[in-house]
Amino acid sequence: MHTPSTPTPLPEHTIASPVGTTLERYIMQKQIEFPYATGELSQLLRDIALAGKIINREVNRAGLAGITGAYGQQNVQGEDQQQLDVVANIRFIRALRNGGQACAVLSEEEDDIIHTGNDHGKYVVAIDPLDGSSNINVNVSIGTIFSIYRRVTTVGSKATREDFLQGGRQQVAAGYILYGSSTMLVYTTGHGVAGFTYEPSLGEFFLSHPDITIPQDGSTFSCNEGYWFEYPECVRTYLMDCKRQRFAGRYVGSLVADYHRNLFTGGIYLYPPTGKNPEGKLRLLYECYPLAFLIEQAGGKALADGGPVLDVVPTDFHQRAPIFIGSPAMVTAYQACADEPVLPTTATTA
Ligand code: AHG
Ligand code: MN
Ligand code: MN
Repeated sequence: MHTPSTPTPLPEHTIASPVGTTLERYIMQKQIEFPYATGELSQLLRDIALAGKIINREVNRAGLAGITGAYGQQNVQGEDQQQLDVVANIRFIRALRNGGQACAVLSEEEDDIIHTGNDHGKYVVAIDPLDGSSNINVNVSIGTIFSIYRRVTTVGSKATREDFLQGGRQQVAAGYILYGSSTMLVYTTGHGVAGFTYEPSLGEFFLSHPDITIPQDGSTFSCNEGYWFEYPECVRTYLMDCKRQRFAGRYVGSLVADYHRNLFTGGIYLYPPTGKNPEGKLRLLYECYPLAFLIEQAGGKALADGGPVLDVVPTDFHQRAPIFIGSPAMVTAYQACADEPVLPTTATTA
């Protein structure tokens, strides 16, 4: 009689699954937790993830597809557009148009809001389709940032300015996609922060970081020190203090990449007012607000000029704001420098 032999166990690495919950499943699970959810926001998040996959593909093959380099035009803010800025903008808007849940989109690359034709969509989306333009052509990490509001105008009508100028605290979801050594999507719907890593061979985002919280304190500061002589005195005082403590300076020059690193390791990102950009450089609606919403959800802090970023009153689509964002203890330490009264300089006589 044949006695079955004990099967040889497969080597662990051949069966151990590196992946578990897909973004798709995660979104569904979260939706079930909210009994009145209609599924439209869930669908919109899926559309954004799809846009992210498409942009990821374009970013990955950009050097071969001949879409690196300048586009030859400037955006409404007078910045030179790169070809990939334009491609990402088109791809993102197309994905939202096809998805049907967003009635309008505000993009860094467009002067005015874009109506998607889905006037019955309940949401509007503000996006920085490609963040870190100066790094596109040198194969350094770049990103996408998004912010979602429920529209305040009547469903079925055309979206208006009011839908976008609601204020940071009205965001219903926000997040970013980082095209880095791996591609990640990190987002919040106001109930904590979750991170997903893209598995390119399967074409899926998988939950890799279920509950992201930023370290309370850190020892990394991220800013462009080339503007040192243009920074307000309080910023220089704070940075000197960082240096006295031998903190590390880390600045990629792609906001998403710098922010992402500090979110995980602790740190502060600063873009103060400068001579060239007296209001700061970063745009309130599609850079500062979404990242501020997300950092607060992760236990961090984001300040603009004298108060929380989320409380800055929006007046224009492309308005800029200074930003000091990251680990709460570091942002509070900066705030202490900013609150310090400026002492009058004592005149010295010869
Ligand atoms: P964008 O590419 O969307 O215009 O944003 C660029 C931003 C941000 O990503 C980065 O942190 C910052 O500009 C860099 O500015 P500096 O070169 O002035 O440091
Ligand atoms: Mn940007
Ligand atoms: Mn951009």
